[in-house]
Amino acid sequence: MTRPPSPEAALAEAMAAIAPRNVRTGCRLIGDADEAHLLPEEARSIPARQPAMRRASGAARWIAHRLLADIGITDVAIMRAPSGAPVWPDGIIGSLAHDDDMAVAAVAPVGGIVSLGIDVEPAEPLPDDIFAIVATGADRTGAADPRLAGRILFAAKEAVYKAAYPLDRDVLGYEDIAVDLDAGRATTKTGRMVSLAYCVVPRVVVLAFVGE
Ligand SMILES: CC(C)(COP(=O)(O)OP(=O)(O)OC[C@H]1O[C@@H](n2cnc3c(N)ncnc32)[C@H](O)[C@@H]1OP(=O)(O)O)[C@@H](O)C(=O)NCCC(=O)NCCS
Repeated sequence: MTRPPSPEAALAEAMAAIAPRNVRTGCRLIGDADEAHLLPEEARSIPARQPAMRRASGAARWIAHRLLADIGITDVAIMRAPSGAPVWPDGIIGSLAHDDDMAVAAVAPVGGIVSLGIDVEPAEPLPDDIFAIVATGADRTGAADPRLAGRILFAAKEAVYKAAYPLDRDVLGYEDIAVDLDAGRATTKTGRMVSLAYCVVPRVVVLAFVGE
């Protein structure tokens, strides 16, 4: 009897299937000692926070270090800028995210895509009170599974923010981003157009990317 894939293997496959060409993705279940994967400079760049958050940041950087090593970039620290955004080596764009259990990362050489954002969420309905804060009349969830549409919308706006921030330096609210899931597109209040791709099994992951 074949065993079902682990949650990490299933998510890795789902993310690879939605990632644009040249974008490498990875995931890792956050472990008890994952803070140890922060390089010393990275640890210093991340202001003191709860241990769980430092473990999540360590897990995300463990993935990112591996993705960078796959394209020949080794021994680089991915610092956290004062804005919160990760600082990538020259010629590289990327994004990190974590939920309570899983960390994800995406990286790509600068090329057809000039900025990336990613978010990960459990594949569970978004609580109604959060949906009321996130959704506006301009959002379109189209054919998305209605049970998960709010969760996908939430992850999409966070991913769009992470992709748009390094380009525009605007702190956006949920109301400043209009999402059209069927069209695979979002627009920010400043007119920035962002493309979207998402998966829902075994977790909701949204990739947001800005083309040249
Ligand atoms: C970016 C933000 C949305 C991330 O949300 P979160 O739920 O805290 O955390 P996530 O796990 O999804 O993502 C965390 C990662 O986002 C990245 N990030 C943080 N600020 C960022 C920014 N300004 N630009 C790009 N990426 C950023 C970091 O890599 C961080 O990982 P690290 O802490 O390990 O370094 C949040 O930190 C933030 O800055 N919010 C302010 C604006 C906002 O909330 N607007 C409403 C949503 S559009």
